[in-house]
Amino acid sequence: MKKIGILTSGGDSQGMNSAIRAVVRTGIARGFEIIGIKRGYKGLMEKEFSKLTSRDVGDILYRGGTFLQSARSEEFRTKEGQKKGAYNLKEAGIDTLIVIGGDGSYRGAAELQKLGIKTYGMPGTIDNDIPLTDYTIGFDTTLNVVMDAIGNLRDTMSSHERVSVIEVMGRSSGDIAIHAGIASGVDAILVPELPWDLKDISRKLKEGFDQGKTHSIVVVAEGAGKAEEIAPLIHEYCGLDTRPTVLGHIQRGGTPSAFDRVFTSQMGHKVIELIENDIHGVALGIEKNEITYHSFEDIFTADTELKADLYQIFKDLI
Ligand code: F6P
Repeated sequence: MKKIGILTSGGDSQGMNSAIRAVVRTGIARGFEIIGIKRGYKGLMEKEFSKLTSRDVGDILYRGGTFLQSARSEEFRTKEGQKKGAYNLKEAGIDTLIVIGGDGSYRGAAELQKLGIKTYGMPGTIDNDIPLTDYTIGFDTTLNVVMDAIGNLRDTMSSHERVSVIEVMGRSSGDIAIHAGIASGVDAILVPELPWDLKDISRKLKEGFDQGKTHSIVVVAEGAGKAEEIAPLIHEYCGLDTRPTVLGHIQRGGTPSAFDRVFTSQMGHKVIELIENDIHGVALGIEKNEITYHSFEDIFTADTELKADLYQIFKDLI
């Protein structure tokens, strides 16, 4: 019976469990054996392999995190480590590997593909920073977590007539900041992809207070700056009382949204279809509501999309 390995790698994200469940259940129904690899590439180095049954993936659909766990492996970053990974898989009779993770995890999968393992990627990261997919796994849930947090902060900022400077994750991408900022009707969004002028922003915040506003919210993508540094600067520029909040890892938790559960189920189903058709060396995505796939090479060389259009909508709405 053909054996398919699956692992989750890099920062976890809400919906990874749903993707694993779909792979395991569809794979078993189509006659494959699914082997779970614990702790990402680290577990691949240490042969942490175990057969997964349909029951093993019961009760995980609605849980955040990844029940296969995730880790970073320095060893796997080396050529020797990659050879060892391919060897460990072949030795266990696994010629196919599904990797759920972000850009770094995809690069590892592409290396294994060159070493004769048929590999597949699924975009597991809250950052939404993978090209050729409109959404990554967990991004939608994270936006909802951030939206709730902004709502809570707005309540208290309003009582005390303060400015809340909220730092969100995203690595070098401003997607979480722009989307959550628009969804929350905030006053300013700072992202790494676009220029911003803190003096000008501070002046506008002050104007708002002068016209009767009782609070303001500024969202900062972590790639653009630190809330702890920006909040005192705003105070210096316009005199308003400011408070920094770093949302941190709270953004990576919580029960996955309906969207994250559904599209990961579709992707898990689709990857088994690709395996049946012997199409490999590809990563899946969702584009215009369709599950699509592209070669790793195309993903690595695609332009990272600048969210200038969305940012302009935000500017027109404040
Ligand atoms: O890539 C996901 C992410 O949550 C980023 O947004 C963030 O910069 C990073 O991972 C945090 O990594 P760690 O969990 O290792 O602190």
